[in-house]
Amino acid sequence: MSRAAAAPEVARLRQAGDEPRIVAIPGDGVGPEVVAATRRVLDAAMARQHLSLNWREITVGGCAIDAYGVAIRDEDLAIADTADALLLGAVGGPKWSDPAAAVRPEQALLTLRTRYELFANLRPVSILPELIAHSPLKSERLHGVDMLMVRELTGGLYFGTPSGESADDSGRHAIDTLPYHEDEIRRVAHVAFESARARRRLVTSVDKANVLATSRLWRTVVSEVGQEYPDVRLEHRLVDSTAMLLVTQPSLFDVILTENLFGDILSDEAAVLAGSLGLLPSASLGSRRTAHGLFGLYEPIHGSAPDIAGTNSANPIGTILSGAMLARESLGLPEVAAAIEQAVAAVIRGGARTADLLPAGDSPAAGSASGLTLVGTREAADLIVAQLLGA
Ligand code: IPM
Ligand code: MG
Repeated sequence: MSRAAAAPEVARLRQAGDEPRIVAIPGDGVGPEVVAATRRVLDAAMARQHLSLNWREITVGGCAIDAYGVAIRDEDLAIADTADALLLGAVGGPKWSDPAAAVRPEQALLTLRTRYELFANLRPVSILPELIAHSPLKSERLHGVDMLMVRELTGGLYFGTPSGESADDSGRHAIDTLPYHEDEIRRVAHVAFESARARRRLVTSVDKANVLATSRLWRTVVSEVGQEYPDVRLEHRLVDSTAMLLVTQPSLFDVILTENLFGDILSDEAAVLAGSLGLLPSASLGSRRTAHGLFGLYEPIHGSAPDIAGTNSANPIGTILSGAMLARESLGLPEVAAAIEQAVAAVIRGGARTADLLPAGDSPAAGSASGLTLVGTREAADLIVAQLLGA
């Protein structure tokens, strides 16, 4: 913490008096609670380095539909444009999920992904030793699980045209289209190989090349990119058997590289390994750079959890760890990121647990025999902040 020992980016920021700009997007359901918790943790981690952040907040998702009739307004996009990074809680909920609705909260997310060409979605999955018993999988299958899902995020079925529903004399039809251009595959493949270099140097590329033309192109292009990384092992697997291996032998994987829809499905499956969706962070990155680093959108992988919204019981850790990824990728501050990650691990080691991390019906009071303490969203953040500030 001494000023003399500051890392280069920390020193530069202090000298420039330059506050990175973060736009918070609390969104719907539990989003506002987990974002509020994360803002406090990020501010504390920055304060340790005598640094601060410039926060703004915008209304996006179902709450924006209620207030303005659209999932995200142009003036709010203009505010997001000025940010070094976006921190999002969650958007959506049953209130806005009528299939006939003309506007949907999720449109805002897709707008943000395409507007900033956030083509690489990074979802790390690892398991804290204290939480192994909480996973639905047998503990012996979980040792050594440490993977990074790299999901292509701006192509494929989510954005292909034509897409829509129509009707004729024979009945109703609907169509979605799955396109991929080699450039879209190549750029996300580079992200996967670069990430693997900092890890165990294995890339598993996942496709359905036995059926889909896009998957055969995917396989060819990923193999070509792989030639540029002779130090990284590349394997190709089909998506159906990968889904099985993820729960039978999850420690086989290091970096998993896959297209948009397969990545959507497999990343939720992989998230189950950690014991709770509430624990896992994500970063969506492209190639846009700001003065501080790579621009990104950071969010927990869980959704808006409307059933527990407003009850101070959501697990904030997935969002807090997304804040750590934000510090690392978008602010160039790995020491801030590591401090947050260590503080989270210390609080879990100390026995504090939000409700999702306790066996159903179990609500141990402080000092109970299990050594675990039930805490709320705010209290979990209090403990992490106290850990960071050495209180
Ligand atoms: C995710 C979510 C989104 C997606 C939805 C909310 C549009 O499931 O980030 O994984 O499908 O990409
Ligand atoms: Mg999803």
